[in-house]
Amino acid sequence: MDEGLGRVFNRQEAKISLGTKIIGRKIYAYDLVTSTNDLAHFFAEQDEPEGCVVFAKGQTQGRGRRGNSWSSPYGTGLYFSFILRPQFLPQQASRVTLMTAMAVARALDAVLAHDVSINWPNDIFIKGKKTCGILTEMCLEGLAIKYIVVGIGLNVNTRKCDLPDGATSLKESAGKEFDIADLSHIIIKEIDRYYEKLNDRRFAEIVNEVKEHFGLFLGGRVRVAWEDRQVEGYAIDFDDDGCLVIRRDNGFLERISAGHLEMLA
Ligand code: BTN
Repeated sequence: MDEGLGRVFNRQEAKISLGTKIIGRKIYAYDLVTSTNDLAHFFAEQDEPEGCVVFAKGQTQGRGRRGNSWSSPYGTGLYFSFILRPQFLPQQASRVTLMTAMAVARALDAVLAHDVSINWPNDIFIKGKKTCGILTEMCLEGLAIKYIVVGIGLNVNTRKCDLPDGATSLKESAGKEFDIADLSHIIIKEIDRYYEKLNDRRFAEIVNEVKEHFGLFLGGRVRVAWEDRQVEGYAIDFDDDGCLVIRRDNGFLERISAGHLEMLA
């Protein structure tokens, strides 16, 4: 194991079988790591198979999008990453984030039964507060996708004092503790199910489910910022690449693969 990955203790190849087709066929479970995304990149470079999952009980350098860190207190959250080797073009990678968000939203809806929404592109909210973040990182070989690492951080039994401002945990919102292992199995099974749909060219079905159940921002006025640009208008749909389609006030449609979305009144 590369020491550059930081403090890694108690590596175990988990022997559980989730009965999934791709995601979770192989699982590595750790105690404390720098970042499960770092480990998943390391394993992907070692030719570990698509669907290989890396779990940790805590992270010392958990990271989020746009250079943010991801607070990963030991033993109270769910932190894991998985490797994908999809057969589509790099510009379609946003599909992966949306498919993952849909799967996590479905899983959380099953355990909480209400108030779950997707805040495009990579956040899951409960009662309007961020509970889960998704970090999709792509590695290219020439013009093709070599692999994608998707990392998921979910505040499960995280106490209020350990949560960043504006965030919540399942425990805070439901008033009870959750079994992190059980929850991880439910989520992985959902991701496996939705990844199968993606591979079966049923992305439109996933989009429809997002629109119908979890896309509160769709139809509303939004502002999306990315790099040094921002666009305001109505969020109307997703295109086949997984990009959000915004209708600007001048009538033009703008397709955005990722950014920071703000819902406006
Ligand atoms: C975000 O909301 O900005 C994305 C957060 C993603 C956090 C997860 S925790 C597991 C995986 N390992 C990381 O270092 N990051 C992701």
